Amino acid sequence: MGTKPGLQVADPFTAPCSLLPMFIRIGADKPAVGLLCISIRVRFMTSHPSKSSIPHISHLRCLICGKEYAPDQVRYVCPDHGHEGILDVVYDYERIAQHISPQSLAANADPTIWRYKPLLPVPADAPTPPLTVGGTPLYAAPRLAARLGLTHVWVKDDGRQPTASFKDRASAIAIVKAWEANAEVITTASTGNAAAALSGLAASVGATTVIFVPASAPQAKIAQLLTFGSTVMLVEGSYDDAFELCLQAADAFGWYNRNTGFNPYMSEGKKTVSYEICEQLHWSAPDVVFVSVGDGCIIGGVYKGFYDLLQLGWIDHMPRIIGVQAEGSNYLAEAWKKGEDVLTKPPIQAHTVADSISAGLPRDRIKAMRAVRESRGAFVTVSDEEILLAIPELAQSTGVFAEPAGAAAYAGLRKAVALGLVSTEERIVVINTGSGLKDVASAMRAADLVGSKAIHIPPTLEAVREALSD
Ligand SMILES: Cc1ncc(COP(=O)(O)O)c(C=O)c1O
Ligand SMILES: [Zn+2]
Repeated sequence: MGTKPGLQVADPFTAPCSLLPMFIRIGADKPAVGLLCISIRVRFMTSHPSKSSIPHISHLRCLICGKEYAPDQVRYVCPDHGHEGILDVVYDYERIAQHISPQSLAANADPTIWRYKPLLPVPADAPTPPLTVGGTPLYAAPRLAARLGLTHVWVKDDGRQPTASFKDRASAIAIVKAWEANAEVITTASTGNAAAALSGLAASVGATTVIFVPASAPQAKIAQLLTFGSTVMLVEGSYDDAFELCLQAADAFGWYNRNTGFNPYMSEGKKTVSYEICEQLHWSAPDVVFVSVGDGCIIGGVYKGFYDLLQLGWIDHMPRIIGVQAEGSNYLAEAWKKGEDVLTKPPIQAHTVADSISAGLPRDRIKAMRAVRESRGAFVTVSDEEILLAIPELAQSTGVFAEPAGAAAYAGLRKAVALGLVSTEERIVVINTGSGLKDVASAMRAADLVGSKAIHIPPTLEAVREALSD
């Protein structure tokens, strides 16, 4: 612990190429799309870590059948259930406790997710990408709290991540796991943010990515992908179509797959948000946490983070986790309300202004349901109008500018207050999962809804006076 990512001299991701003749950087001379199918080219590194290099992982456990696997036995899902057998990473907490504690963290100046490396599914000596992932602010929000008749509300602003969304937490792990797998190309399907996160993190280490997003993804997210140099497949279809296509392509071409709800390690990166929240609150866990839900990977990660801390004895209770879905993308909320089995419930047609949480068949639905059930939480749904209205309300009460899916978490808190799901004195955290700059068109719609309009004037002081007197 204690070494700063980006400063490790022998780090093949961050050290200049000329210092590291045994590592060949890829990316600058990235192959054309056609060449991505050919199995040649460079490797991230020359050696594989063995299972024993991650001794703090006890095993992977299938969340459907309970079967256990060693980490080097299976890469993604339990082979007994097609693509559905999502795996949970089970840790040896006694061993972990020998390497990390609240005291060691207090003395650790590294602000990134890697400060929690002994709790992450990576070897202790794994090189890590250089971007500053994690360490996002937890803002006290007294004016927001007062608006809702509450006392203690904080906003965790993950719009402040390097690529401006929560997904950087997972993609940072994907880069390390791809290295471990000796991958040449990393791929993902995404509504946009996971893709931008993978694309940016990959660019930081010169890795090659092929990305599948719905053609309807917001321009800013597509711009990020193109600017970071990914090969971008704009799929004429939904996110669900992009997901299936990505699975097929990864299989056909042997790419490392970061797909949410398929790659078991993504929720392990996302869990770091809960570590940060608890550490920022001096290891006094909040009572309730609000997070928006599409595939369910973030909420699964939020639960896992608190679960880890409980096992370690660093916090004394599990916060209630409230998942917020859009009314037009309410698969999990409906399943929870009706007690439906998410393994047999058919997909729905998802439509919402909050593109990031539009998921007809949430891929991490088992972990999402576990998070809400085990934390004695709930799902709430919010309309598109409630989501849009939440954008300026959150912005004007806290200074945090959220994209629709981020603001949805706050809209969910509003709804929960109306439904009596939270009480006045409870300590509540709302997670903003993405920056408002990700979807400026929706922000403009939201401003319009609340009558927030710019005033067009000629460049004279007289015009300013006139405008102010109107
Ligand atoms: C900004 C934002 N919020 C929330 C979510 C929902 O996360 P999950 O799909 O893991 O439920 C996403 C997913 O893309 C997102 O980008
Ligand atoms: Zn299984």
